[in-house]
Amino acid sequence: MSALRLCLSASLLLLLTTQAYGVEGGAQESSSCLSCHGALTGRLGEPVAAWEGSVHAANAIGCHSCHGGDPTIASMEAMSPERGFLGVPAETEIPPFCGKCHAGVEEDYLQSAHGETLGAGGPQCVTCHGNHAVAVTTLDLINPESCSRCHEYGRAEEIKGALAETDRLITELQATTERQHRLGIATDDQRKQIFAVRNDFHRLFHSVDVQQVVARSGEFQQRLQPVAQELQATDEELSQRRLIGAGAVLLLALVTVLLGFLRHTYKKEEQSDPGAGSGPL
Ligand code: HEC
Ligand code: HEC
Ligand code: HEC
Ligand code: HEC
Ligand code: HEC
Repeated sequence: MSALRLCLSASLLLLLTTQAYGVEGGAQESSSCLSCHGALTGRLGEPVAAWEGSVHAANAIGCHSCHGGDPTIASMEAMSPERGFLGVPAETEIPPFCGKCHAGVEEDYLQSAHGETLGAGGPQCVTCHGNHAVAVTTLDLINPESCSRCHEYGRAEEIKGALAETDRLITELQATTERQHRLGIATDDQRKQIFAVRNDFHRLFHSVDVQQVVARSGEFQQRLQPVAQELQATDEELSQRRLIGAGAVLLLALVTVLLGFLRHTYKKEEQSDPGAGSGPL
């Protein structure tokens, strides 16, 4: 029953994902950008290998999703401006270039001390995330190597500390949904809710404003409360079921022993019954 439900929700999820990115995913299979650039070397070929392991590749965001152009044309014509080719963005054009899909992050970033210094020493999206080998984010992105390129690490460490508690809560809840999912429980709803809060929360970093992070952390933790309670209720139900299950196993063992005992005495009676068949004596 739960295996069936699991199967159904898995295929539904697959359907939804392929619907959302289906067109791009399909085009990606035969992308001329990939096949031509894949055969080039140096600065023209390197993006392909870097992109292959990225979070974008995993989500069917291909070369043309960022750079524009037509991936169905196998010649240089694929990169004509008439085909929507945008080329390589200049430093100050990068936030809107990425913000096409990450509008919320762009907005927070532009209002921050980093956004205000764009083009004048401040970092932009690619400074911290890279351009082609973009990975799923964690707090590890805040580290001395990356964050002391322009100023002392202290202020970076402070904001990391302010983000840590809510980040830990999110990771813990995600681990719980995964554990319950492995037991065959449908947790898609909870996973979606946590993912939405997680994205909004990771967005918050871009304000690079410790006060704002501290002020808004409570709000995020509150948004996680209903999910946390649902997951806890499921865990309690599971341990109850485990208790009932253990009871049932015990009962079954008891019945087996009892039956064995009964059969044993019945056989004995059969053997010692003089009227039953022709006994040796
Ligand atoms: C037939 C081969 C071929 C195809 C197809 C192709 N490219 Fe290119 N691409 C090149 C070459 C060669 C250059 C270098 C051109 C130059 O320097 O003038 C280039 C340059 C680029 C650049 C850098 C431009 C710059 O100003 O430095 C980007 C970005 C790019 N291609 C993306 C794409 C995308 C996206 C697609 C698919 C829509 C694509 N390419 C399809 C061969 C190709
Ligand atoms: C997530 C968006 C994104 C995707 C996907 C992406 N690029 Fe880029 N690409 C960029 C950005 C941003 C730059 C400019 C980077 C910079 O200034 O550091 C760039 C730069 C380039 C350059 C110029 C490199 C140089 O050193 O001059 C080439 C060539 C290129 N990309 C090709 C590709 C190809 C081929 C693909 C597909 C495998 C691809 N890109 C996928 C965002 C992307
Ligand atoms: C055409 C749309 C598109 C563009 C343009 C784009 N991205 Fe993405 N990006 C996505 C999608 C889809 C995902 C995967 C789903 C998600 O995590 O939101 C993603 C994921 C990410 C992640 C991981 C988020 C996480 O959950 O941890 C980062 C970081 C990221 N992108 C940065 C960038 C940067 C930097 C640029 C510009 C160089 C860029 N993106 C351009 C669509 C895009
Ligand atoms: C100073 C470094 C820095 C800059 C500049 C920066 N980011 Fe981030 N970004 C981070 C860090 C660190 C995180 C993870 C924060 C966390 O774990 O709470 C993150 C998280 C993200 C996420 C995941 C959250 C979500 O909403 O899914 C995306 C997407 C993203 N950044 C895209 C961008 C884009 C687009 C830009 C440019 C407009 C940008 N970043 C500029 C460091 C940076
Ligand atoms: C390319 C240079 C550069 C990099 C890399 C960089 N910063 Fe910054 N940062 C700046 C500039 C410029 C400012 C604004 C001027 C100032 O306060 O010094 C700033 C300001 C800040 C502030 C203070 C914001 C405020 O409102 O007072 C924090 C916090 C911060 N950065 C955190 C980080 C973190 C975390 C990282 C690494 C993920 C990072 N920075 C990487 C250039 C950089």
